[in-house]
Amino acid sequence: MDYLEIEGGHKLKGSVTISGAKNAALPIIAATLLSDKDVKLTNLPNVVDIRTLLKLLTMLGGDVKHNDTVADINNAGINSTKAVYEIVSQMRASILVLGPLLTRFKHCEVSLPGGCAIGQRPIDMHLKALEQMGAIIEIKGGYVRAEAPNGLMGAKIEFDKITVGGTENVVMAAALANGTTTIMNAALEPEVVQLCEMIRDAGVDIQGIGTSELTIVGTNGVPLEFKTTDIIPDRIEAGTYLCAAAITHSDITLKKVNIEHIKSPIAKLEKMGCTFDVENDNITIHSPEVIKPTHLITTEYPGFPTDMQAQFMAVATIADGESIIEERLFENRFMHVSELNRLGADIWLKGSLAAVHGVKELNGADVMATDLRASSALVLGALAANGITNVRRIYHLDRGYDNLEGKLSLLGAKITRKKD
Ligand code: UD1
Repeated sequence: MDYLEIEGGHKLKGSVTISGAKNAALPIIAATLLSDKDVKLTNLPNVVDIRTLLKLLTMLGGDVKHNDTVADINNAGINSTKAVYEIVSQMRASILVLGPLLTRFKHCEVSLPGGCAIGQRPIDMHLKALEQMGAIIEIKGGYVRAEAPNGLMGAKIEFDKITVGGTENVVMAAALANGTTTIMNAALEPEVVQLCEMIRDAGVDIQGIGTSELTIVGTNGVPLEFKTTDIIPDRIEAGTYLCAAAITHSDITLKKVNIEHIKSPIAKLEKMGCTFDVENDNITIHSPEVIKPTHLITTEYPGFPTDMQAQFMAVATIADGESIIEERLFENRFMHVSELNRLGADIWLKGSLAAVHGVKELNGADVMATDLRASSALVLGALAANGITNVRRIYHLDRGYDNLEGKLSLLGAKITRKKD
Protein backbone atom coordinates (compact mmCIF):
# COMPACT_ATOMS: atom_id res chain seq x y z
CA MET A 1 0.00 0.00 0.00
CA ASP A 2 1.23 3.53 -0.75
CA TYR A 3 2.36 5.80 2.04
CA LEU A 4 3.97 9.22 2.24
CA GLU A 5 7.37 9.72 3.79
CA ILE A 6 7.75 13.31 4.91
CA GLU A 7 10.85 14.92 6.35
CA GLY A 8 9.54 17.84 8.37
CA GLY A 9 10.98 21.12 9.47
CA HIS A 10 11.52 22.68 6.04
CA LYS A 11 10.02 26.01 5.10
CA LEU A 12 7.87 26.26 1.98
CA LYS A 13 8.30 28.85 -0.73
CA GLY A 14 7.02 29.69 -4.22
CA SER A 15 3.56 29.21 -5.64
CA VAL A 16 0.95 26.51 -6.10
CA THR A 17 -1.98 26.39 -8.51
CA ILE A 18 -5.27 25.33 -6.98
CA SER A 19 -7.29 22.68 -8.83
CA GLY A 20 -11.01 22.54 -9.54
CA ALA A 21 -13.27 21.73 -6.59
CA LYS A 22 -14.03 18.04 -6.11
CA ASN A 23 -17.24 18.86 -4.26
CA ALA A 24 -18.43 21.10 -7.10
CA ALA A 25 -17.43 18.61 -9.80
CA LEU A 26 -19.25 15.63 -8.26
CA PRO A 27 -22.82 17.06 -8.36
CA ILE A 28 -22.07 18.59 -11.77
CA ILE A 29 -21.04 15.19 -13.14
CA ALA A 30 -24.26 13.73 -11.66
CA ALA A 31 -26.24 16.57 -13.28
CA THR A 32 -25.03 15.52 -16.74
CA LEU A 33 -27.60 12.69 -16.34
CA LEU A 34 -30.25 15.39 -16.89
CA SER A 35 -29.05 15.70 -20.49
CA ASP A 36 -29.06 13.50 -23.59
CA LYS A 37 -26.63 15.79 -25.44
CA ASP A 38 -22.84 16.29 -25.30
CA VAL A 39 -21.60 17.99 -22.14
CA LYS A 40 -18.06 19.28 -21.63
CA LEU A 41 -16.62 19.80 -18.16
CA THR A 42 -13.28 21.56 -17.68
CA ASN A 43 -10.97 22.22 -14.71
CA LEU A 44 -11.87 18.90 -13.10
CA PRO A 45 -9.48 17.92 -10.30
CA ASN A 46 -7.43 14.83 -11.12
CA VAL A 47 -8.56 12.78 -8.10
CA VAL A 48 -9.97 9.31 -7.49
CA ASP A 49 -13.49 10.46 -6.51
CA ILE A 50 -13.99 12.07 -9.92
CA ARG A 51 -12.83 8.92 -11.71
CA THR A 52 -15.16 6.84 -9.53
CA LEU A 53 -18.25 8.87 -10.45
CA LEU A 54 -17.30 8.94 -14.14
CA LYS A 55 -16.92 5.15 -13.96
CA LEU A 56 -20.44 4.95 -12.54
CA LEU A 57 -21.76 6.95 -15.51
CA THR A 58 -20.01 4.53 -17.86
CA MET A 59 -21.52 1.56 -16.00
CA LEU A 60 -24.97 3.11 -16.50
CA GLY A 61 -24.36 3.31 -20.25
CA GLY A 62 -23.02 6.85 -20.53
CA ASP A 63 -20.26 7.71 -22.99
CA VAL A 64 -17.37 9.31 -21.08
CA LYS A 65 -14.08 10.57 -22.42
CA HIS A 66 -11.88 11.75 -19.59
CA ASN A 67 -8.44 13.27 -19.76
CA ASP A 68 -7.11 14.59 -16.43
CA THR A 69 -9.00 17.88 -16.15
CA VAL A 70 -11.50 17.59 -19.00
CA ALA A 71 -14.45 15.23 -19.46
CA ASP A 72 -16.69 14.92 -22.50
CA ILE A 73 -19.86 13.15 -21.47
CA ASN A 74 -22.90 12.02 -23.43
CA ASN A 75 -25.70 10.34 -21.48
CA ALA A 76 -28.03 9.65 -24.43
CA GLY A 77 -27.34 5.93 -24.20
CA ILE A 78 -28.07 5.29 -20.51
CA ASN A 79 -29.45 1.74 -20.33
CA SER A 80 -29.28 1.06 -16.60
CA THR A 81 -30.48 3.11 -13.65
CA LYS A 82 -28.84 1.01 -10.96
CA ALA A 83 -25.96 2.55 -9.00
CA VAL A 84 -24.31 -0.53 -7.57
CA TYR A 85 -22.82 -1.06 -4.12
CA GLU A 86 -19.33 -1.58 -5.58
CA ILE A 87 -19.23 2.12 -6.54
CA VAL A 88 -21.45 3.76 -3.92
CA SER A 89 -19.58 2.08 -1.08
CA GLN A 90 -16.36 3.66 -2.37
CA MET A 91 -17.81 7.13 -2.37
CA ARG A 92 -20.84 8.39 -0.51
CA ALA A 93 -21.36 11.24 -2.96
CA SER A 94 -22.60 8.68 -5.52
CA ILE A 95 -25.98 9.24 -3.84
CA LEU A 96 -26.06 12.40 -5.99
CA VAL A 97 -27.20 10.32 -8.97
CA LEU A 98 -30.48 9.53 -7.19
CA GLY A 99 -32.28 12.79 -8.03
CA PRO A 100 -31.19 13.05 -11.69
CA LEU A 101 -31.76 9.34 -12.50
CA LEU A 102 -35.21 9.36 -10.94
CA THR A 103 -36.37 12.57 -12.55
CA ARG A 104 -35.15 11.63 -16.04
CA PHE A 105 -35.91 7.89 -16.14
CA LYS A 106 -38.77 7.69 -13.58
CA HIS A 107 -37.14 4.85 -11.68
CA CYS A 108 -33.75 3.97 -10.23
CA GLU A 109 -31.93 1.91 -7.65
CA VAL A 110 -29.06 3.37 -5.69
CA SER A 111 -27.11 1.43 -3.11
CA LEU A 112 -27.30 2.86 0.41
CA PRO A 113 -24.00 4.59 1.11
CA GLY A 114 -23.69 2.90 4.50
CA GLY A 115 -21.55 3.99 7.41
CA CYS A 116 -18.84 6.54 7.05
CA ALA A 117 -15.73 7.29 9.01
CA ILE A 118 -16.83 10.83 9.93
CA GLY A 119 -20.22 9.95 11.36
CA GLN A 120 -23.55 8.43 10.56
CA ARG A 121 -24.36 10.68 7.57
CA PRO A 122 -27.89 9.49 6.82
CA ILE A 123 -29.79 10.34 3.62
CA ASP A 124 -33.24 10.63 5.21
CA MET A 125 -33.69 14.24 4.11
CA HIS A 126 -32.90 13.39 0.46
CA LEU A 127 -35.52 10.61 0.52
CA LYS A 128 -38.21 12.59 2.33
CA ALA A 129 -37.89 15.46 -0.16
CA LEU A 130 -38.14 13.14 -3.17
CA GLU A 131 -41.22 11.50 -1.61
CA GLN A 132 -42.78 14.94 -1.28
CA MET A 133 -42.19 15.28 -5.03
CA GLY A 134 -44.21 12.10 -5.61
CA ALA A 135 -41.54 9.41 -5.53
CA ILE A 136 -42.41 5.99 -4.17
CA ILE A 137 -39.37 4.81 -2.26
CA GLU A 138 -38.54 1.54 -0.58
CA ILE A 139 -35.32 0.35 0.97
CA LYS A 140 -34.65 -3.26 0.10
CA GLY A 141 -31.54 -5.39 0.00
CA GLY A 142 -29.33 -2.43 0.85
CA TYR A 143 -30.70 -0.37 -2.04
CA VAL A 144 -32.92 2.68 -2.28
CA ARG A 145 -35.51 1.73 -4.91
CA ALA A 146 -37.32 4.78 -6.19
CA GLU A 147 -39.96 5.24 -8.82
CA ALA A 148 -42.20 7.99 -10.09
CA PRO A 149 -44.18 6.44 -12.97
CA ASN A 150 -45.68 9.77 -14.02
CA GLY A 151 -42.56 11.77 -13.33
CA LEU A 152 -41.74 13.88 -10.29
CA MET A 153 -44.00 16.79 -9.36
CA GLY A 154 -42.92 20.22 -8.11
CA ALA A 155 -43.31 20.53 -4.33
CA LYS A 156 -42.57 22.74 -1.36
CA ILE A 157 -39.57 21.27 0.42
CA GLU A 158 -38.35 22.54 3.75
CA PHE A 159 -35.17 20.91 5.02
CA ASP A 160 -35.10 20.45 8.83
CA LYS A 161 -31.35 20.93 8.72
CA ILE A 162 -29.11 22.42 6.03
CA THR A 163 -27.83 19.66 3.74
CA VAL A 164 -25.45 20.23 0.83
CA GLY A 165 -26.06 16.90 -0.92
CA GLY A 166 -29.79 16.98 -0.14
CA THR A 167 -30.14 20.44 -1.69
CA GLU A 168 -28.17 19.31 -4.76
CA ASN A 169 -30.26 16.15 -5.23
CA VAL A 170 -33.52 18.09 -5.01
CA VAL A 171 -32.33 20.87 -7.34
CA MET A 172 -31.45 18.24 -9.97
CA ALA A 173 -34.73 16.35 -9.43
CA ALA A 174 -36.72 19.58 -9.67
CA ALA A 175 -35.05 20.61 -12.95
CA LEU A 176 -37.01 18.00 -14.95
CA ALA A 177 -40.07 17.77 -12.66
CA ASN A 178 -43.58 18.81 -13.59
CA GLY A 179 -44.23 22.21 -11.98
CA THR A 180 -42.46 24.46 -9.52
CA THR A 181 -40.35 23.30 -6.59
CA THR A 182 -39.46 25.58 -3.70
CA ILE A 183 -36.59 24.59 -1.42
CA MET A 184 -36.48 26.31 1.94
CA ASN A 185 -33.42 26.16 4.20
CA ALA A 186 -31.31 25.36 1.12
CA ALA A 187 -27.52 25.10 1.45
CA LEU A 188 -25.55 28.21 0.38
CA GLU A 189 -22.23 26.50 -0.38
CA PRO A 190 -20.44 27.76 -3.55
CA GLU A 191 -20.66 24.19 -4.93
CA VAL A 192 -24.48 24.34 -4.71
CA VAL A 193 -24.41 27.76 -6.37
CA GLN A 194 -22.35 26.46 -9.31
CA LEU A 195 -24.71 23.52 -9.81
CA CYS A 196 -27.71 25.89 -9.86
CA GLU A 197 -25.96 28.22 -12.32
CA MET A 198 -25.14 25.33 -14.65
CA ILE A 199 -28.79 24.22 -14.65
CA ARG A 200 -30.01 27.83 -15.05
CA ASP A 201 -27.62 28.31 -18.01
CA ALA A 202 -29.27 25.26 -19.60
CA GLY A 203 -32.53 27.23 -19.66
CA VAL A 204 -34.21 26.17 -16.40
CA ASP A 205 -35.86 28.99 -14.47
CA ILE A 206 -34.14 28.99 -11.05
CA GLN A 207 -34.68 31.91 -8.70
CA GLY A 208 -32.86 32.62 -5.44
CA ILE A 209 -29.46 31.16 -6.37
CA GLY A 210 -27.05 31.68 -3.44
CA THR A 211 -29.90 32.23 -0.97
CA SER A 212 -31.62 29.80 1.39
CA GLU A 213 -34.81 29.78 -0.71
CA LEU A 214 -34.61 28.34 -4.21
CA THR A 215 -37.48 28.21 -6.69
CA ILE A 216 -37.10 25.89 -9.67
CA VAL A 217 -39.53 25.56 -12.56
CA GLY A 218 -39.16 22.04 -14.01
CA THR A 219 -39.14 21.19 -17.72
CA ASN A 220 -41.70 18.36 -17.29
CA GLY A 221 -39.33 15.64 -18.46
CA VAL A 222 -37.55 17.50 -21.26
CA PRO A 223 -33.79 16.76 -20.99
CA LEU A 224 -31.41 19.72 -20.73
CA GLU A 225 -28.65 20.95 -23.02
CA PHE A 226 -25.71 22.15 -20.94
CA LYS A 227 -23.06 24.70 -21.85
CA THR A 228 -19.41 23.90 -21.12
CA THR A 229 -18.89 24.17 -17.37
CA ASP A 230 -15.56 25.22 -15.87
CA ILE A 231 -15.35 23.88 -12.31
CA ILE A 232 -14.76 26.52 -9.60
CA PRO A 233 -11.49 26.48 -7.63
CA ASP A 234 -11.33 24.10 -4.66
CA ARG A 235 -11.74 26.23 -1.52
CA ILE A 236 -10.77 23.33 0.74
CA GLU A 237 -7.59 22.58 -1.19
CA ALA A 238 -6.75 26.31 -1.07
CA GLY A 239 -7.37 26.42 2.68
CA THR A 240 -5.19 23.35 3.16
CA TYR A 241 -2.21 25.02 1.42
CA LEU A 242 -2.72 28.17 3.51
CA CYS A 243 -2.50 25.95 6.60
CA ALA A 244 0.63 24.27 5.17
CA ALA A 245 2.24 27.72 5.00
CA ALA A 246 1.07 28.70 8.49
CA ILE A 247 2.29 25.52 10.19
CA THR A 248 5.75 25.82 8.58
CA HIS A 249 5.97 29.60 9.19
CA SER A 250 6.27 30.14 5.43
CA ASP A 251 5.22 32.64 2.78
CA ILE A 252 3.67 31.10 -0.35
CA THR A 253 1.36 32.19 -3.16
CA LEU A 254 -1.80 30.34 -4.21
CA LYS A 255 -2.89 30.82 -7.81
CA LYS A 256 -6.39 30.43 -9.26
CA VAL A 257 -8.30 30.90 -6.01
CA ASN A 258 -11.73 32.40 -5.42
CA ILE A 259 -10.98 34.64 -2.43
CA GLU A 260 -14.71 35.13 -1.67
CA HIS A 261 -15.04 31.41 -0.98
CA ILE A 262 -12.23 31.26 1.62
CA LYS A 263 -13.04 34.39 3.61
CA SER A 264 -13.76 32.52 6.81
CA PRO A 265 -10.49 30.48 6.92
CA ILE A 266 -8.57 33.64 5.95
CA ALA A 267 -10.18 35.61 8.80
CA LYS A 268 -9.16 32.86 11.26
CA LEU A 269 -5.59 32.76 9.96
CA GLU A 270 -5.39 36.55 10.26
CA LYS A 271 -6.34 36.25 13.92
CA MET A 272 -3.62 33.62 14.28
CA GLY A 273 -1.09 36.19 13.05
CA CYS A 274 -0.89 35.57 9.28
CA THR A 275 -1.17 38.42 6.78
CA PHE A 276 -2.29 38.27 3.15
CA ASP A 277 -1.75 40.04 -0.17
CA VAL A 278 -4.45 39.52 -2.76
CA GLU A 279 -4.01 40.19 -6.46
CA ASN A 280 -6.85 39.11 -8.76
CA ASP A 281 -7.21 35.36 -8.17
CA ASN A 282 -3.81 34.99 -6.48
CA ILE A 283 -3.29 35.18 -2.74
CA THR A 284 0.01 35.32 -0.86
CA ILE A 285 0.15 34.30 2.78
CA HIS A 286 2.84 35.63 5.14
CA SER A 287 3.12 33.52 8.27
CA PRO A 288 4.58 34.65 11.60
CA GLU A 289 7.19 32.72 13.60
CA VAL A 290 4.72 32.51 16.48
CA ILE A 291 1.17 31.35 15.68
CA LYS A 292 -1.56 32.60 18.00
CA PRO A 293 -4.18 30.16 19.28
CA THR A 294 -7.68 30.15 17.83
CA HIS A 295 -11.30 29.48 18.72
CA LEU A 296 -13.39 28.06 15.94
CA ILE A 297 -16.78 26.47 15.42
CA THR A 298 -17.66 24.61 12.24
CA THR A 299 -20.93 25.67 10.62
CA GLU A 300 -22.52 25.75 7.20
CA TYR A 301 -21.25 28.20 4.55
CA PRO A 302 -20.43 31.06 4.86
CA GLY A 303 -19.34 29.92 8.32
CA PHE A 304 -16.15 28.02 9.04
CA PRO A 305 -16.14 24.77 6.98
CA THR A 306 -16.07 21.39 8.70
CA ASP A 307 -13.80 20.26 5.84
CA MET A 308 -11.10 22.65 7.20
CA GLN A 309 -11.43 21.70 10.87
CA ALA A 310 -8.71 19.02 10.90
CA GLN A 311 -6.17 21.21 9.06
CA PHE A 312 -6.72 24.13 11.47
CA MET A 313 -6.33 21.75 14.37
CA ALA A 314 -2.94 20.75 12.96
CA VAL A 315 -1.88 24.41 12.86
CA ALA A 316 -3.23 24.96 16.40
CA THR A 317 -0.98 22.18 17.73
CA ILE A 318 2.04 24.48 17.47
CA ALA A 319 0.28 27.71 18.52
CA ASP A 320 1.40 29.74 21.51
CA GLY A 321 -1.47 28.89 23.87
CA GLU A 322 -4.73 26.96 24.00
CA SER A 323 -7.14 26.72 21.04
CA ILE A 324 -10.74 25.53 21.30
CA ILE A 325 -12.30 23.81 18.29
CA GLU A 326 -15.96 22.87 18.17
CA GLU A 327 -17.30 20.47 15.49
CA ARG A 328 -21.00 21.08 14.96
CA LEU A 329 -21.70 19.25 11.68
CA PHE A 330 -20.39 15.73 12.09
CA GLU A 331 -20.40 13.76 15.33
CA ASN A 332 -17.28 11.70 14.74
CA ARG A 333 -14.89 13.99 12.98
CA PHE A 334 -12.00 14.03 15.44
CA MET A 335 -10.21 10.88 14.39
CA HIS A 336 -7.10 12.84 13.47
CA VAL A 337 -6.70 13.79 17.15
CA SER A 338 -5.06 10.60 18.36
CA GLU A 339 -2.76 10.59 15.31
CA LEU A 340 -1.73 14.24 15.80
CA ASN A 341 -1.03 13.35 19.44
CA ARG A 342 1.33 10.65 18.16
CA LEU A 343 3.34 13.49 16.61
CA GLY A 344 3.56 15.10 20.05
CA ALA A 345 0.48 17.32 19.94
CA ASP A 346 -1.45 17.88 23.16
CA ILE A 347 -5.15 17.65 22.29
CA TRP A 348 -8.01 16.78 24.62
CA LEU A 349 -11.49 15.85 23.51
CA LYS A 350 -14.82 16.29 25.23
CA GLY A 351 -17.83 15.49 23.05
CA SER A 352 -17.81 17.89 20.11
CA LEU A 353 -15.09 20.08 21.67
CA ALA A 354 -11.34 19.79 21.29
CA ALA A 355 -8.90 21.70 23.46
CA VAL A 356 -5.55 22.03 21.73
CA HIS A 357 -2.65 23.05 23.98
CA GLY A 358 0.06 24.39 21.71
CA VAL A 359 3.42 22.60 22.00
CA LYS A 360 6.90 23.91 21.22
CA GLU A 361 7.61 21.19 18.65
CA LEU A 362 6.15 18.14 16.93
CA ASN A 363 8.23 15.04 16.28
CA GLY A 364 7.99 12.58 13.39
CA ALA A 365 6.18 9.25 13.87
CA ASP A 366 4.17 6.66 11.94
CA VAL A 367 0.57 7.84 11.60
CA MET A 368 -2.53 6.49 9.91
CA ALA A 369 -5.01 8.49 7.84
CA THR A 370 -8.69 7.85 8.61
CA ASP A 371 -10.61 10.10 6.25
CA LEU A 372 -9.89 12.63 3.55
CA ARG A 373 -9.44 15.82 5.56
CA ALA A 374 -7.97 14.03 8.58
CA SER A 375 -5.24 12.75 6.23
CA SER A 376 -4.34 16.24 5.13
CA ALA A 377 -4.06 17.34 8.78
CA LEU A 378 -1.50 14.57 9.32
CA VAL A 379 0.49 15.72 6.28
CA LEU A 380 0.47 19.26 7.70
CA GLY A 381 1.64 17.99 11.08
CA ALA A 382 4.39 16.03 9.34
CA LEU A 383 5.60 19.13 7.47
CA ALA A 384 6.16 20.85 10.80
CA ALA A 385 7.50 17.86 12.77
CA ASN A 386 11.19 17.19 13.38
CA GLY A 387 12.48 14.18 11.49
CA ILE A 388 10.55 11.66 9.43
CA THR A 389 6.81 10.99 9.51
CA ASN A 390 5.21 8.18 7.51
CA VAL A 391 1.56 8.86 6.70
CA ARG A 392 -0.20 5.57 5.92
CA ARG A 393 -3.53 4.79 4.21
CA ILE A 394 -3.14 7.70 1.86
CA TYR A 395 -5.82 6.38 -0.49
CA HIS A 396 -8.01 8.78 1.48
CA LEU A 397 -5.85 11.68 0.27
CA ASP A 398 -5.90 10.43 -3.32
CA ARG A 399 -9.72 10.65 -3.25
CA GLY A 400 -9.66 14.42 -2.91
CA TYR A 401 -6.26 16.11 -3.31
CA ASP A 402 -4.94 16.59 -6.83
CA ASN A 403 -1.21 15.68 -6.87
CA LEU A 404 -0.64 16.64 -3.24
CA GLU A 405 2.90 15.40 -3.01
CA GLY A 406 3.85 16.92 -6.37
CA LYS A 407 2.47 20.31 -5.39
CA LEU A 408 4.10 20.23 -1.94
CA SER A 409 7.44 19.13 -3.47
CA LEU A 410 7.33 22.12 -5.80
CA LEU A 411 6.90 24.28 -2.71
CA GLY A 412 10.07 22.76 -1.29
CA ALA A 413 8.64 20.10 1.03
CA LYS A 414 10.56 16.85 1.39
CA ILE A 415 7.80 14.40 0.61
CA THR A 416 7.99 11.06 -1.20
CA ARG A 417 5.35 8.45 -2.07
CA LYS A 418 6.56 4.99 -1.15
CA LYS A 419 5.17 1.47 -1.18
CA ASP A 420 5.18 -1.07 1.65
C1 UD1 B 1 -20.99 17.70 1.79
C2 UD1 B 1 -19.54 17.61 1.36
C3 UD1 B 1 -18.65 17.30 2.56
C4 UD1 B 1 -18.89 18.33 3.67
C5 UD1 B 1 -20.37 18.44 3.99
C6 UD1 B 1 -20.68 19.56 4.97
C7 UD1 B 1 -19.67 16.83 -0.91
C8 UD1 B 1 -19.44 15.72 -1.88
N1 UD1 B 1 -19.40 16.56 0.36
O1 UD1 B 1 -21.34 16.42 2.31
O2 UD1 B 1 -17.29 17.35 2.15
O3 UD1 B 1 -18.19 17.95 4.84
O4 UD1 B 1 -21.13 18.70 2.79
O5 UD1 B 1 -20.23 20.78 4.48
O6 UD1 B 1 -20.03 17.92 -1.29
N2 UD1 B 1 -27.75 14.87 7.22
C9 UD1 B 1 -28.84 14.18 7.71
N3 UD1 B 1 -29.72 13.64 6.80
C10 UD1 B 1 -29.56 13.78 5.45
C11 UD1 B 1 -28.44 14.47 4.97
C12 UD1 B 1 -27.55 15.02 5.88
O7 UD1 B 1 -29.03 14.07 8.92
O8 UD1 B 1 -30.41 13.27 4.70
C13 UD1 B 1 -26.80 15.49 8.18
C14 UD1 B 1 -25.38 14.94 8.06
O9 UD1 B 1 -25.20 13.77 8.81
C15 UD1 B 1 -24.56 16.11 8.61
C16 UD1 B 1 -25.33 17.33 8.12
O10 UD1 B 1 -26.66 16.86 7.85
O11 UD1 B 1 -24.55 16.10 10.01
C17 UD1 B 1 -24.78 18.00 6.89
O12 UD1 B 1 -24.57 17.02 5.89
P1 UD1 B 1 -24.61 17.38 4.34
O13 UD1 B 1 -24.56 18.86 4.17
O14 UD1 B 1 -25.72 16.65 3.70
O15 UD1 B 1 -23.21 16.77 3.87
P2 UD1 B 1 -22.88 16.02 2.51
O16 UD1 B 1 -23.68 16.60 1.39
O17 UD1 B 1 -22.91 14.57 2.74
